[in-house]
Amino acid sequence: MTPTSSPWSVENPARAAAPLAGDTRYDVCVVGAGIAGLTTAYLLADAGKSVVVLDSKSKVAAGETEVTTAHLAWVIDDRFTRVAQVRGDEAARLAAESHQSAIDLIEAISKRERIACEFKRVDGYLFPGADGPDALRDEMVTMTRLGLIFERVDRVPFPANASGPALRFPDNGQFHPLKYLSDLAAVIRMRGGVIHTETRVVDIRSGAPCTVHTDTGRTVTAGAVVVATGSPFDTGTTMHFKVAAYMTYAIGLEVPAGYVKHALYWDTEDPYHYVRTTPIEGGKDLLIVGGEDHKTGQASDQPERWARLEAWTRERFPAAGAVRHHWSGEVFETPDGLGMIGLAPGWRQNVYVITGDSGMGMTHGTLGARLVSDLILGRTNPYAGLYAPSRWAPSALKTLLEENVNIAAQYTDWLTGGEVKSADEIPPGQGAIVRRGLTKLAVYKDDRGGVHEMSAVCPHLGGIVQWNPGEQTWDCPCHGSRFGCTGEMRHGPAASDLTPIEQPAPAGT
Ligand SMILES: Cc1cc2nc3c(=O)[nH]c(=O)nc-3n(C[C@H](O)[C@H](O)[C@H](O)COP(=O)(O)OP(=O)(O)OC[C@H]3O[C@@H](n4cnc5c(N)ncnc54)[C@H](O)[C@@H]3O)c2cc1C
Ligand code: FES
Repeated sequence: MTPTSSPWSVENPARAAAPLAGDTRYDVCVVGAGIAGLTTAYLLADAGKSVVVLDSKSKVAAGETEVTTAHLAWVIDDRFTRVAQVRGDEAARLAAESHQSAIDLIEAISKRERIACEFKRVDGYLFPGADGPDALRDEMVTMTRLGLIFERVDRVPFPANASGPALRFPDNGQFHPLKYLSDLAAVIRMRGGVIHTETRVVDIRSGAPCTVHTDTGRTVTAGAVVVATGSPFDTGTTMHFKVAAYMTYAIGLEVPAGYVKHALYWDTEDPYHYVRTTPIEGGKDLLIVGGEDHKTGQASDQPERWARLEAWTRERFPAAGAVRHHWSGEVFETPDGLGMIGLAPGWRQNVYVITGDSGMGMTHGTLGARLVSDLILGRTNPYAGLYAPSRWAPSALKTLLEENVNIAAQYTDWLTGGEVKSADEIPPGQGAIVRRGLTKLAVYKDDRGGVHEMSAVCPHLGGIVQWNPGEQTWDCPCHGSRFGCTGEMRHGPAASDLTPIEQPAPAGT
């Protein structure tokens, strides 16, 4: 299979930055340079705060933000019916309003800063999947009760296989996330903000001030720290009980311009399919289709998942051309479908977190940036209670327990045998788990037959990683840490690589 790629990758010098080179002091240290972290830095720098952003990758917006599909939706993907059941009608109405405010903010920033990011207002459509029209009916009832604007239409405007009524929601949005964030990084610097890449944070000490320790031993002292790392890094173990890591898959196919109405589409299935288009060169559109979610580290059939997405797409869009991109990435679900945004729970003075994107991280990250900036600036924010990470929703207990029983079950991997007996059984370019005595090894064989052995034990909280053949990564089934094929940390919450195993020296040396 060809390597994965998302359509958003842009080469822009503003994405590059130097690593942190000395101990420094700022008003605010933001950890993570995705949409959540960069928007936070922008808002705080604009308000006159001195801000530094630290990211472990070599460029900004190279985490999940680079592999998004960038729907800007105010319609909650877990559906208003679910949010209203778990948190009540007022919370569900506020959730809609908060995501609308996030789309407004992206539009306002792109206008104010003259960022050419293809921002556009579009309709959203919820259409029935294989599970039939009941879910649609429930959502209509709930949205009517909440006073939210929608219209029932006879069918979703797909060229083929568009069965049954659908719901249309006005005033959603779409944009090019990397064009937006590359330019936003440049604006942050113009406002006095500082960005360091290739700087991994390994420890955050809360307090007044807080101290942020990095992998090179350099520290940042700051009045406040914002953890915008996607998965919640170093914000207390309880956060890992509240946030569950899922993989989601996407493909991009060329279609004639105008063949598909520019809009956001998603169906009622679980996991749901999601669809949008984006203009590409030659006056054509790229049709982007996503879905096939599963818990991170708990599936190894990635090629089949992309193939199923393609088959689903061709049934509805028969004129679609070849698949130009296929890729996957991680989203973080919460028991009530709403982000976890605000002061980190427990005694973490001045440490704030933006996590639990629930597949709506473009808007969650943006409204999270506004919320956390308001808290740091001492302003009131109407959504602070809705998203408070310390919240407790008794009606979400069942989901919370199911997720944590699933996590606990992953630790039984310690007891099972290896997937193969030795590296001899692993084809080049692939990896597998090998048991050696009491330990489990993550063994990768490179294309030239070189064998790389690492401990399969995740440095976060000891889960056993699993090979992901689609992305050539080792994925932890417990809280979603991901590592490159030779063990380098790609995504937290782990803060270090898989431990390499020394190869025994050849006999006679
Ligand atoms: C296939 C796919 C489709 C999606 N579609 C949509 C969609 O249509 N609409 C939508 O709203 N959302 C969507 N999402 C979700 C959305 O993309 C993410 O929620 C969002 O990009 C997360 O942004 P973020 O800034 O929180 O995290 P990220 O973009 O992941 O940024 C976090 C950053 O933190 C850095 N970091 C992590 N740990 C450390 C550390 N210890 N030290 C220093 N740096 C660290 C990482 O390097 C990374 O750059 C999708 C996601 C995927 C994977
Ligand atoms: S991510 Fe927590 S144990 Fe691996």
